[in-house]
Amino acid sequence: MKVAISSDHGGINIKAEIIDLMNEMNIQYEDLGCTCGESVDYPDYALPVAKKVANKEVDRGILICGTGIGMSIAANKVRGIRCALVHDTFSAQATREHNDSNVLAMGERVIGPGLARDIAKVWLETEFLGGRHARRVEKITLLEK
Ligand code: RB5
Repeated sequence: MKVAISSDHGGINIKAEIIDLMNEMNIQYEDLGCTCGESVDYPDYALPVAKKVANKEVDRGILICGTGIGMSIAANKVRGIRCALVHDTFSAQATREHNDSNVLAMGERVIGPGLARDIAKVWLETEFLGGRHARRVEKITLLEK
């Protein structure tokens, strides 16, 4: 699996935590910024990750900002993206099993690094269940046409 990851200035610490996790899990990743603590605009960092996932250059994306909300709103504007804003491990598992979410968003001002790491691990390890869920996801895809 290959993952693209980015954050704005509000998410740089959790981005580092998730990169550490992906190194531990031997997951290949592309870090698309941001690289410094200065204030940046989250859509500028959400869209490159979302486009790489939509174009199948990578399998999944992870986005972190202060709340995760701006990143998830921006990513979900890209056709083919199912970005889930998640702040608990139950939802991390459920959104992979049921929604086949291909981008995960989290907020560094909402949760700490330990929980973010657990959420990302569950989300990265959980497979889509398919079956009746595939029919429902297909109905979402049809909304984009
Ligand atoms: C930046 O201050 C903040 O608005 C951003 O990180 C994010 O929370 C937006 O949704």
